[in-house]
Amino acid sequence: MARPSILPAPGADDPPFYRETAGECELFERAFRNRMPLLIKGPTGCGKTRFVAHMAARLGRPLYTVACHDDLTAADLTGRYLLKGGDTVWADGPLTRAVRDGAICYLDEVVEARKDVTVVLHPVTDDRRTLPLERTGEILHAPPEFMLVVSYNPGYQNVLKSLKPSTRQRFLALEFSFPQPEVEAAIVARESGLAQERCAALVRLANALRELKGKDLDEGASTRLVIYCASLIKAGMRPADAVVAALIEPLTDDPDVRQGLLRVADIALG
Ligand SMILES: Nc1ncnc2c1ncn2[C@@H]1O[C@H](COP(=O)(O)OP(=O)(O)OP(=O)(O)O)[C@@H](O)[C@H]1O
Ligand SMILES: [Mg+2]
Repeated sequence: MARPSILPAPGADDPPFYRETAGECELFERAFRNRMPLLIKGPTGCGKTRFVAHMAARLGRPLYTVACHDDLTAADLTGRYLLKGGDTVWADGPLTRAVRDGAICYLDEVVEARKDVTVVLHPVTDDRRTLPLERTGEILHAPPEFMLVVSYNPGYQNVLKSLKPSTRQRFLALEFSFPQPEVEAAIVARESGLAQERCAALVRLANALRELKGKDLDEGASTRLVIYCASLIKAGMRPADAVVAALIEPLTDDPDVRQGLLRVADIALG
């Protein structure tokens, strides 16, 4: 059997490729220059992480990313004493390191974090811009280059997992949605190497699947999945198989819904 061809890993572009869709780069830069934290909301796979990586590189700041989860504590962000050969030594957490280095700290899926995390975020996200380290007794003052960026997906968030108004009202906010079809097709073509008109057909299918959000599906097909699909086709996979693997199966476990999605795919791809 012929070995499937494998696409080279995406090039380490510097800054990473990001196609602006609605003035978000300017807003990010204004937030950075005015020392304001930024909150980004949007569905999975729509470009939030890529955008932050792009802007950090463009502004020449290091980026420390933390994937938040429901066990994440304030100490995971600020730091803790560790035992090292009989001694206890202080180890900065990513937020502390970002404050010391004047870096961009990106907390992904911030609503997942435990409530005590917001306590450390408050003084560093208002005009004090300080990070008190209770354990060491230090109070760090964030340099102008430090920026906090948080993101979450409002789609699968429950009432218990929302940010308190006193937290969210410390951030400028930006809502991401999927780009216009021709822009999304250009992004998919650039990322996958597949011809733009073939990408446009996949984006049409993704948009048809996105119509089912809130009805048969919790989430529509992400740009990330469209890129997976296009990349598989570019690498020689049969388009029908690539569509099932990248745009149908990841969306549902329900056999009836799956059948429905296959019909949507047949119609959309004609
Ligand atoms: N505007 C864009 N410019 C360039 N690439 C994009 C853009 N939007 C999406 N992408 C592509 O989509 C992929 C997924 O985006 P990304 O990982 O940033 O999603 P996300 O919004 O962070 O999702 P999640 O909430 O699941 O973490 C990226 O790897 C990139 O290839
Ligand atoms: Mg992300």
